[in-house]
Amino acid sequence: MKNVTCIEDLRVLHRRRVPRAFFDYADGGSYSEETLRANRADIEHIRLRQRVLVDVSSRSLATTILGQKVSAPFALAPIGLTGMQHGNGEILAAQAAEEAGIPYTLSTMSICSIEDVAEATTKPFWFQLYVIKDRGFSKDVLSRAAEAKCSALVLTVDLQVLGQRHRDIKNGMTVPPEIRLANIIDIGTKPAWIWGILKGKSKTFGNLAGHVKGMENVNSLAQWIQSQFDPALSWKDVEWIKNIWPGKLIIKGILDPEDAKMAVKLGADAIVVSNHGGRQLDGAPSTISALPGVAQAVGSDTEVLFDGGIRTGADLVRALALGARACLIGRAYVYGLGAGGRAGVSKAIEILKNELSVTMALTGTNRVADIGPNIIVGGETKKKPTRKRKG
Ligand SMILES: Cc1cc2nc3c(=O)[nH]c(=O)nc-3n(C[C@H](O)[C@H](O)[C@H](O)COP(=O)(O)O)c2cc1C
Repeated sequence: MKNVTCIEDLRVLHRRRVPRAFFDYADGGSYSEETLRANRADIEHIRLRQRVLVDVSSRSLATTILGQKVSAPFALAPIGLTGMQHGNGEILAAQAAEEAGIPYTLSTMSICSIEDVAEATTKPFWFQLYVIKDRGFSKDVLSRAAEAKCSALVLTVDLQVLGQRHRDIKNGMTVPPEIRLANIIDIGTKPAWIWGILKGKSKTFGNLAGHVKGMENVNSLAQWIQSQFDPALSWKDVEWIKNIWPGKLIIKGILDPEDAKMAVKLGADAIVVSNHGGRQLDGAPSTISALPGVAQAVGSDTEVLFDGGIRTGADLVRALALGARACLIGRAYVYGLGAGGRAGVSKAIEILKNELSVTMALTGTNRVADIGPNIIVGGETKKKPTRKRKG
């Protein structure tokens, strides 16, 4: 990892070390990948104001998210099948996040289960839920998350139907990978990856196996999942979740101000401005372009989190300047995991923190709370909206 200086270096290593089907699964987006590209292109386009001769010797990256103290304004996003990028992937990422003092979010579609991650960590993590047709499963998995002392629920609402990812179909990307000659040859050249997966605690959907009647093997579970996405999902279900989940509620997948207002009305503690990393509605706006409108629509009682395209510390500053309280990091840490397991995730977090610190210094900023629109070229006269925090 000595020569790794940026997230792109981790991406290159990830591509080299992990079978193509899984790398592409992480790297790709839906359909023509327009929105995936827009997430990066639009964020890169934002220019920061260089300020000089400001005393920035007492900088701090620390802040709070939903009242929780964090060492930097970001958390690890929920990522399905993390344990197929590296054996025990969810456990390793959660441990790296805990060590770094930032929250980790476990996906419903994880390989390691809620209980596996709880056993391997000492601090509460966040749990992400997809509400599927089988509401009994949703209820059951929520009690498991509460039992495991998960401190927040991230309710993902942008996946009622699945956006097609061409790369996954072409690669035969399933769990386990479809047995194709190309896959066998490819996997055969990745012995370290195989060894890690073989040693891993779980090789199936950890949160589902043993909790869905009659679906004991990985193939039947994968088919069950496909049939369980629920096009009938509505705001009523959010109300239902709000009533049965005892902790903080974060609604993830908001891109439109009207939806943001609805989430606030139903009592969300936070929302995540997200287009699922360009993996769902292709043609949707980039998250960074949607952020200011959504942030404005949300009152001061609900925190605005952001994800999509964050690859540098400067990107974190850009998102915070445009109204986010904190960000979720997706691929940036998955690349780290694929590149080097837990050390790779720690490296990704360290890179982002260092870049954030330098960006703050060169924009004349000492505290995360001071990052506002005035830090952006063209935003000189705009003031950061004052937000009262809940709880
Ligand atoms: C490989 C992969 C799997 C994902 N799985 C989930 C998931 O299980 N649940 C969820 O809410 N979001 C999921 N997402 C979306 C992320 O949580 C996040 O919104 C997105 O990755 C942010 O964009 P970024 O990767 O550019 O940082 C996934 C994203 C990727 C790349």
